[in-house]
Amino acid sequence: MAARLIDGKMLAATVRAQVADRVRTLRAQGITPGLAVVLVGDNPASQVYVRNKAAACEAAGILSRTVSLAADTPEGELLDLLDSLNADPSIHGILVQLPLPGHIDTGRVIAAIDATKDVDGFHVANAGLLLTGRPRFLPCTPYGIMKMLESEAVPLWGAEAVVVGASNIVGKPMALLLLAAGATVTICNSKTRDLGAQTRRADVLVVATGRSGMVTGDMIKPGAVVIDVGINRLENGQLVGDVDFETARQVAAAITPVPGGVGPMTIAMLLVNTVESAERQLPA
Ligand code: GUN
Repeated sequence: MAARLIDGKMLAATVRAQVADRVRTLRAQGITPGLAVVLVGDNPASQVYVRNKAAACEAAGILSRTVSLAADTPEGELLDLLDSLNADPSIHGILVQLPLPGHIDTGRVIAAIDATKDVDGFHVANAGLLLTGRPRFLPCTPYGIMKMLESEAVPLWGAEAVVVGASNIVGKPMALLLLAAGATVTICNSKTRDLGAQTRRADVLVVATGRSGMVTGDMIKPGAVVIDVGINRLENGQLVGDVDFETARQVAAAITPVPGGVGPMTIAMLLVNTVESAERQLPA
């Protein structure tokens, strides 16, 4: 039996409509949520992501300000820009699109963002709050995946969850959220000896490696829920995930498509974090 498709595009539209409602309420009280998106260099994929984020903001009534800097911008200039965005009361969320050019220290840049405006949830203060169970901003991709699992009523309490990929942006926060939801979590990385032996135990399998074909149908437990975070462009121009969709869908109970799965949810959750940040500005 072929797997059910988890429609991230449709769920994202619902979340975005809810955000638009919250924005209307805020604007009626004189606060327009504002998101600053900083792009350094001319990575074509990053340019597309940044454009999509700005368009989603405007559609929800959030003011978006995109600052594009040349690839050879000195780190100090970027840090100065962040200082001024931190101090700007019309900006409630700040996002620096990654990856940054090699001469810039990514950790130093993220640390320079005011943690109360860090709508990506990448600042160590926010990572620490998540780790200790008192989250402020959840990283958008894992946050969106939790929403998808919730909307599909996927049981997590006591479930076996396997996360393939251990990045700060997706894998690690994903594992923490699944753990907090009561799952038994395994995190795999590029050194994992027998990946299939791990993934075949998963009731919920999240794959975020950035490499197409990492997980094939024979590595999936029949009836598992498979979340594919990857977005890879093949030489023939086709957009695919990290999971081999055709073999996986024969085995899984449910699977996210690429495109139209996790990607739209990531943007929707960025809007949620931004409106939430603005709501915190309201008098208590
Ligand atoms: N690059 C890839 N994913 C992301 C993300 O979620 N946020 C930022 N800032 N950069 C990214």
